[in-house]
Amino acid sequence: MIPLRIGVMGLGTVGAGVFQVLERNSGEIARRTGRGLQVTQVSRRNLDAARELVGDRATVVADPHAIATSPDIDVVVELIGGTTLARDLVLLALRHGKHVVTANKALLAVHGEEIFGEARRLGLTVSFEAAVAGGIPVIKMLREGLSANRISWLAGIINGTTNFILTEMRDRGLPFADVLQEAQRLGYAEADPTFDIEGVDAAHKLALMGAIAFGMPVQFDSVYVEGITALHSQDIRYAGQMGYRIKLLGIARRRDDAGGVELRVHPTLVPEKCLMASVEGAMNAVMVQGDAVGTTLHYGKGAGSEPTASAVVADLVDIARLASAAPEHRVPSLSFQPDALQNLRVLSIDEVVTAFYLRLVVADRSGVLADITRILAAHDISLDAVRQRESSHGEQQTDLVVLTHETIESALRAALKDIQALPSVLQPVVALRKEELA
Ligand code: NDP
Ligand code: HSE
Repeated sequence: MIPLRIGVMGLGTVGAGVFQVLERNSGEIARRTGRGLQVTQVSRRNLDAARELVGDRATVVADPHAIATSPDIDVVVELIGGTTLARDLVLLALRHGKHVVTANKALLAVHGEEIFGEARRLGLTVSFEAAVAGGIPVIKMLREGLSANRISWLAGIINGTTNFILTEMRDRGLPFADVLQEAQRLGYAEADPTFDIEGVDAAHKLALMGAIAFGMPVQFDSVYVEGITALHSQDIRYAGQMGYRIKLLGIARRRDDAGGVELRVHPTLVPEKCLMASVEGAMNAVMVQGDAVGTTLHYGKGAGSEPTASAVVADLVDIARLASAAPEHRVPSLSFQPDALQNLRVLSIDEVVTAFYLRLVVADRSGVLADITRILAAHDISLDAVRQRESSHGEQQTDLVVLTHETIESALRAALKDIQALPSVLQPVVALRKEELA
């Protein structure tokens, strides 16, 4: 059988990994697919660097549009990133009859509906395993492995850069900026690292996972997003003293009681004894709760050259096997049949139900704690634990750390407004969400 002819657009961290993995494992891959997978054209701006990597094994093309339109290419792999040029190239490639593989979560979170629609219209496939959680096959797991289940929630550490930063800050006391620089050097961070640290990259991935888990259109704009830039090191320390780790989680939860779903990304306290707490460095993990399977956990490298290439190449293998399947018999991009997607409402953050960690800097005098607990009780918020911590602000002040039981966010916000108005509360209250992931 003739080899699948692949054009790779973008030959950076991931693109170079794809080329290397396909070369190194070509024999093993051909044993699986029954046909070769051959990169025949590549494109990057730095043509010399491209030639240095591929030698005479592939043609180096200056303009990626030439790959998208080439009659000699069966599958285009988009690894340039961003949402403008990448969108044009992907649509162009589809319109020239090529299947597409991409690792670009931003592209699919923002333009997914258009791109999946166009692929469907043309009977082609857009595969994106590498777009979520790097080398962990979470898309395949949600789309195929768990397709018997009604999924009630999933929660994931889905950004390697921020997990790396949080781990290094806690374990080695390193400053935020230094660790971010190291993550960039290691090739984990996005071209614009604010996407990582402000939670946007995780929100892109969560929008895709939510769509596949619940059978709804990709709704990136409705995801609630908080990153890690406002996190204080003393909260990481206090959380540790109370048996919790702080992780940037992406959470998607079905809320039949409220007629919708929660889609949210924010720093979250998780119990130290929970497996998610031990996911360190650039590793990713996704927990999924299905009604038949129960709780499952999927763990692995969430970023980096070859781990991400592993997912891209797996998509290429699937495409090489597609030849004999009619488009209507292929696995749908979002797992559910396109006409069976439901327009589920994404709940506002006010409607989210979760427990909280609160840190208050208060005047160190009697009656303060009583005032705070009275306000929380008035808003129907019950307490799980209260600790007093020595403040670094002097003897007249103390840090109070309060863990609440689950409450609706609007009640917590109303209570915080009243608490903040107390003269004994000296600084803005820190509120972080807490999940037991049970
Ligand atoms: P890099 O910045 O390392 O690579 C981007 C590549 O695109 C470079 O080779 C660059 O060429 C090329 N490129 C940029 N503009 C053009 C253009 N106009 N024409 C041709 N080539 C161009 O990015 P990554 O490999 O890290 O990421 C690629 C994609 O994979 C992104 O969507 C990212 O979100 C995603 N991803 C990345 C992961 C990672 O761990 N890095 C993990 C999972 C997904 P040149 O350098 O010569 O300018
Ligand atoms: N910047 C991303 C991360 C790359 O740090 O997780 C993988 O998607």
